[in-house]
Amino acid sequence: MTLHSHTPKNQDSSTKHVSRAAHFKMLDVILKRHQYRQDALIEILHQVQDLFGYLETDLLRYIAQCLRLPLSRVYGVATFYHLFSLAPRGTHRCVVCTGTACYVKGAAALLTTVEQFAHIHAGETTPDHCLSVSTTRCPGTCGLAPIVVFDDQVCGYQTPNSVRDRLKPLLKQT
Ligand code: FES
Repeated sequence: MTLHSHTPKNQDSSTKHVSRAAHFKMLDVILKRHQYRQDALIEILHQVQDLFGYLETDLLRYIAQCLRLPLSRVYGVATFYHLFSLAPRGTHRCVVCTGTACYVKGAAALLTTVEQFAHIHAGETTPDHCLSVSTTRCPGTCGLAPIVVFDDQVCGYQTPNSVRDRLKPLLKQT
């Protein structure tokens, strides 16, 4: 199942379109990996939130459709567990992949770099709501490992230095 027909709201550039389409492609990878199993709903929600930063209504609706579950059930689970967020977090998002391929290529060092540079831990947002940091487990771009997703951009072959360089403008540092 793919989402090529999905039409994002407020789509304002071809770049954003490609990036969002890439994200939805990763969402399809997550759903497929779990074989669209209804009993994998919580794990799927975790991974989708890791990928997108929060669980917007469009995502919940799409997941419900793919798992053949009532939207009310998916929404109920997403609102029951405090680990899930239905609202945006920081203005910017930094998502470090800690899947196997990325892990063996230095994901732990990347995550440590991000956490130390932003002075927050994974799952947290900076006090000024500028940046949210999270982790994900293999969105399906292992060929680029180790990857970090900055906002809508999947960045491959990352190093601690490249991560710091990308975080500077996001944190408004010079
Ligand atoms: S393990 Fe990181 S993209 Fe697959």
